[in-house]
Amino acid sequence: MKIGIGNDHSAVAMKWEVVDFLNELGHEVVNYGTDSEESCNYPVYGEKVARAVADHEVDLGILICGTGVGISLAANKVRGIRAVVCSEPYSARLSRQHNNTNILAFGARVIGIELTKMIIEEWLNAEFQGGRHQERVNMIMDIEEEKYEHL
Ligand code: RB5
Repeated sequence: MKIGIGNDHSAVAMKWEVVDFLNELGHEVVNYGTDSEESCNYPVYGEKVARAVADHEVDLGILICGTGVGISLAANKVRGIRAVVCSEPYSARLSRQHNNTNILAFGARVIGIELTKMIIEEWLNAEFQGGRHQERVNMIMDIEEEKYEHL
């Protein structure tokens, strides 16, 4: 799989550990993040990865900032993006199976690398289950189109 990765200054070291891990799993990684620990603005990197996913330059995205919150909020503003912040593997797996998330975010200041690897594996190995979940995901995506039929 081709995975786009993005990060701010708080997550440079973790980014490289995640890149190594993804390469070990056999994935190709495209780095859209900063490689400098000088303070920068996380929305830039959230948007870059989100646009790469939305434009099918990459299959999925991974975003890391201090908490995972800001960078995922930015990504979720891009049409077609469903980014989830996870600090544990159960939500990561279910976010793929039920919500068809296309970006996984987490916080370099929140979780350590071993838990991070577990979360990533769980997320990558899970498959969207479709069916009733597809209808609900469609309802989420309709909000972007400002369709209000289900209200
Ligand atoms: C940067 O200090 C920090 O605010 C950022 O990495 C992130 O946690 C924002 O949500």
